[in-house]
Amino acid sequence: MRLALLLLSCCALGALALDNGQGLRPAMGFNTWNTFATNIDEELIKDTTDLMIRLGLKDAGYEYVNLDDAWSAPARQDGRLVADPLRFPSGIRALSDYVHSKDLKFGIYGDAGALTCAGYPGSRGFEKVDAQTWADWGVDYLKYDNCWAPASDWVIDRYMAMRDALNATGRPLLYSLCEWGVADPWTWAAAVGNSWRATEDIEASWESVLKLLDYSHGLARYAQPGAWNDLDMLEVGVGKLTVGEQRAHFALWALLKSPLIIGADLRKIHPDSLAILKAKEVIAVNQDPLGVAGDLIWQIGQARIYAGPLAGGARAVVMLNTHTTGGQYLQSNITVHWRQIGLPAGAAAVVRDLYAERDLGTFTDSFSAPVTAHDVRVLRITPLEQRADLDSWRPWRSQPMFQPTDEAPPAFGDLISSGNPELPGSRLPQDILAAHVGRRMGPDDGEQFTMVAEA
Ligand SMILES: *[C@@H]1O[C@H](CO)[C@@H](O)[C@H](O)[C@H]1NC(C)=O
Ligand SMILES: *[C@@H]1O[C@H](CO)[C@@H](O)[C@H](O)[C@H]1NC(C)=O
Repeated sequence: MRLALLLLSCCALGALALDNGQGLRPAMGFNTWNTFATNIDEELIKDTTDLMIRLGLKDAGYEYVNLDDAWSAPARQDGRLVADPLRFPSGIRALSDYVHSKDLKFGIYGDAGALTCAGYPGSRGFEKVDAQTWADWGVDYLKYDNCWAPASDWVIDRYMAMRDALNATGRPLLYSLCEWGVADPWTWAAAVGNSWRATEDIEASWESVLKLLDYSHGLARYAQPGAWNDLDMLEVGVGKLTVGEQRAHFALWALLKSPLIIGADLRKIHPDSLAILKAKEVIAVNQDPLGVAGDLIWQIGQARIYAGPLAGGARAVVMLNTHTTGGQYLQSNITVHWRQIGLPAGAAAVVRDLYAERDLGTFTDSFSAPVTAHDVRVLRITPLEQRADLDSWRPWRSQPMFQPTDEAPPAFGDLISSGNPELPGSRLPQDILAAHVGRRMGPDDGEQFTMVAEA
């Protein structure tokens, strides 16, 4: 019976999606974990709530203020979860009231095993009482983790138990599954929750961002309004990601329709990181009413193109350059062809740079731009002539990246002799280039290629 339901869910997701009215767009908000881990208290949540408004994040669309692990006392009282009395002396209901008084929503954290990941009481076997406790506290969002679960349990049963317990409270809560993508949640979780972690935990490093991105390839087809792949919370403004890396991380999470959950310390956030989190045209891709996730559509070497459809026949395109050589960052010239993104050959389309918030012109058939290594160009490509069928393109159908190309590779001579600081010589690895131009390249050697020093 359960198997039959699951098989059905693979082919008729819409019919079986969780019907709780939540997460119709990917969730946007804040969570304590990425910066504060278990070091949290009620002052942090109140300050963050105020800063969400003062920094313009609420106006940009962020609505949830979420506690992660370690908010509770180490033991239940009379069978119920209670707040840590030292760090949350006013209690969770008062905190939730505070967040609501600022017209924001309040989220909490629980675990589907015996203990949370940090060792606080888990909800396995306590689903009904815990769901009711959270509903009584006015909670709007539950992140539900998967630590300390016995191997004898089936993960889907534990996540369904909390789904049903939440439903029974009558309070609509956004239900965010966090089983780290281990049991292929994209195949079943649309019927259980509003989003599912598709990957292991993120870290504030470029390697981690790329690794989670790699895990996500091919998953766009499983997302739909109310049911999203979650690539984990944002590291924008956390750790040592460069500004370009933060731009790439944010734009790709937005295009893949991951929830956008800020993990930075808003009391100290760098203005560059804040500007990325507030990039309104990139956020608009994430929140687009068509609700179709983007995916990888093309890759050669260090150059990648991710794309997805937007309402009204436009396309969102992220050109990504993952290249790095010997501590020197180069640029690559990346071209997106209309045929790769389901636009008619010869169609004229306006290309807009979504971080710059600027139209780049009208192009037919393709658009090329240099992309700095560890950075992105984020584009909206809008055909001048609207056609009803343009909305129906999906990045995972007839992926052009696997089709033969009729383009001849550029002649080597052309690559090194242009003298154009905007490349194309930088397509080549630094050592090959160096050998051909007959000298070592240093950071000031900018004649044949643009180089950007590692930040
Ligand atoms: C509970 O589930 C029913 C049936 O799927 C649904 O119609 C209702 O909206 C749900 N209620 C809540 C509060 O999620
Ligand atoms: C990038 O590639 C395109 C297509 O091959 C070419 O037309 C364009 O001139 C190139 N741009 C640069 C700056 O090299």
